[in-house]
Amino acid sequence: MLKRFCWSCILTLSFASVCGAQTLRQEADNASLLVGTAVRPAQLSETAYVSTLAREFNMLEAEDAMKWWILRPDAGTYDFRQGDEIVRFAQAHQMKVRGHCLVWAQYNPKWLTQAHFTDRQLAHLLHEHITKVMKHYAGEVFAWDVVNEALDEHGNVRDSLWYNRPGIGLQGEGTAYIERVFRWAHRADKHALLFYNEAEGEGLGRKSDAVYAMVKDFKQRGVPINGIGLQLHISKPDVDIAAIAANIARLTALGVQIHVTELDVSLPVDSSGGLLHPDDVNRQAEIYRGIVQTCLQYPGCTAIQTWGFTDKYSWIGSFSRHTRGWALPFDRNYDPKPAYRAVLDALSAGRSVPR
Ligand code: XIL
Repeated sequence: MLKRFCWSCILTLSFASVCGAQTLRQEADNASLLVGTAVRPAQLSETAYVSTLAREFNMLEAEDAMKWWILRPDAGTYDFRQGDEIVRFAQAHQMKVRGHCLVWAQYNPKWLTQAHFTDRQLAHLLHEHITKVMKHYAGEVFAWDVVNEALDEHGNVRDSLWYNRPGIGLQGEGTAYIERVFRWAHRADKHALLFYNEAEGEGLGRKSDAVYAMVKDFKQRGVPINGIGLQLHISKPDVDIAAIAANIARLTALGVQIHVTELDVSLPVDSSGGLLHPDDVNRQAEIYRGIVQTCLQYPGCTAIQTWGFTDKYSWIGSFSRHTRGWALPFDRNYDPKPAYRAVLDALSAGRSVPR
């Protein structure tokens, strides 16, 4: 269907400008949704990377550049260069920036993890880190993953540097340390949206029950939390979309937003990166479609982000020791895959009647 009169259709019949065919970004704008991707600054000098990024997305997140190990080469230094580069790119292309992540047990520098700080020292370091980083990016990063992956598969608070090894002084008190850092984050930047980001707890189960209970408790007691990030690194073919919908429904009913933060759907590959089962491509497309359609059903689901956009730079290869891959909407040559088309179709259908 011809959606609107489109001069670019007349001028050029290039990929994204065939009449009626929009980009993800245009369709997401129409649906009042943010569509984002994780980015690596090293690739911002590559023409195909940059043009695809600017054309298809209205939001970016640093895949690694705002993690402790990049930002904090040593205890006394903040190195914002990579993060700033991403912010500059986003601003030049009218994109929003999500920040990721202020508190995580992983990807911390050795000077931090191996120094045997006391809990008082750690509390001081973390408070200073959150304050400095959030103030540096105030007005530029609109939403932060304040805490990442703090719960285990049973829904218990994970052992970690920040919780109990030695922790920031709230060891043994469950989510109290999460509450503390959300309060620090709110003080650092009152305008930033504060998210708790979690993996493998997107449907219904013990982990998502624990996230739900935490959000409910925080909301009741006025702890500043604005959203939940559902990572959605999908590696199994049998995704329970209905359970994800039910989880989004109950979380948004508490008054928090949902961002799908790290979507990718990895498939089994052979040693040269080829698909083991070519038909998986269609199944993958349907999973992408289902996730986007589900988000669009809930007004509180305000962003969908993939973890990278081209298979050329997906983290899945190294993470799976090259047994999985092909996870993203664009292939290694930046050609759109069926997953891209499915996302585009789902976005162009727009938001369904609000629940
Ligand atoms: C990954 C990055 O993609 C890799 O480049 C890096 O080596 C390790 O971290 N959950 C998260 C992300 O919240 O930060 C992780 O990103 C993937 C899993």
